[in-house]
Formats: sequence, structure tokens, C-alpha cells
Amino acid sequence: MTNDGKSGVIEARPVVDKEIEWLQQGMRNVGFFSKLGRSQLTEVLPYMLLIQYAEGSVICSEGEAGDAMYLIYRGKVVITKKDWKDPVAVLEDGDFVGEMALLFGEPRSATVTTACLTEVFCLAAEDFKRIVDRSPDMTRTLRRLAEARRSQLAKS
Ligand code: CMP
Repeated sequence: MTNDGKSGVIEARPVVDKEIEWLQQGMRNVGFFSKLGRSQLTEVLPYMLLIQYAEGSVICSEGEAGDAMYLIYRGKVVITKKDWKDPVAVLEDGDFVGEMALLFGEPRSATVTTACLTEVFCLAAEDFKRIVDRSPDMTRTLRRLAEARRSQLAKS
């Protein structure tokens, strides 16, 4: 796929072996993955796409319906909210975004924009749901983290 100048997507393709290896060995110690067991991780990987975004691309827009969640492979994203003067958060390699709309069945709580060339592993909502149905441990972990983020937004 080439950059269409609108979405900012430069490339989207299935995850290849070297990324799977990297995820299994390295990312498991970082951020979200540290909470996942090896078998849970192995379950998630085949459903993921690797998407490369140009700097300044909007991955999720506040208020829209959620259709996927994203794990940041390499890069940086800024989380912003319409009425907030400052960014809500800046997230980097190993972190995840877009989980709240899928878990809570709510519109996107904030806008996620890339701060530089950024590669993310994308998990579509239907694959996410399949994993949630099969992995109660992982779902509990994600939900706990998402609830903490939601209460931070409520504090403003
Ligand atoms: P979602 O609501 O689907 O889309 C916007 C995303 O921004 C949200 O999921 C979270 O992944 C992320 N987000 C929202 N609030 C915070 C926060 N307080 N800290 C970090 N990330 C957040």
C-alpha cells in the first residue's frame, strides 16, 4: 500500500517472523506485553497487521467509533482531547492505544496522532473480540489499565 496522503498510512502488511520473534523476546518485557503470558502473546500475533504511519497521521479521532486497537512497535504518539490545553499523554514503543473504545463499547475517548514515523501492530475489533472471548486473563489486565486511563480523563 502506498501513502494516499490522507490517512498517512505508508505501508500495511501481515507481521513477519522477525517481528514475531522480536515481540516474543523483547517486547514481552515492555509495557503491555509484560502483562501477557507467552501463550496469550502467541495467540494474538497471527491476527495482527503491521502499519507504518507518516509523522502527523491521525490513528484514532476523538468521538469516532472504534474499529481496532494498536500496539506501538517503533515510534511515538500523542494523545489529545478537544478541551484540553496540554496533551493527555505521549506513548512510545511497547505501549498500546485504541483499547478503550473496544473494551467499553464507547466512542474514541481522545485523538491519537503520530509524532514521528511510527509503526504499530494493528488488531481489528473482530479479532480483538475473538481474543477477549478466549483470554479472560488478558482481558482483565487490559481492562484494569484502560480503567486507569479513563479515570485520568475524568479528572480534568
Ligand atoms: P480509545 O478511546 O479507543 O481511543 C483513544 C485512545 O487514547 C484510548 O482508547 C486510549 O488508548 C488512549 N488514551 C485515552 N486516555 C489516555 C490516558 N489517560 N493515558 C494514555 N492513553 C490514553
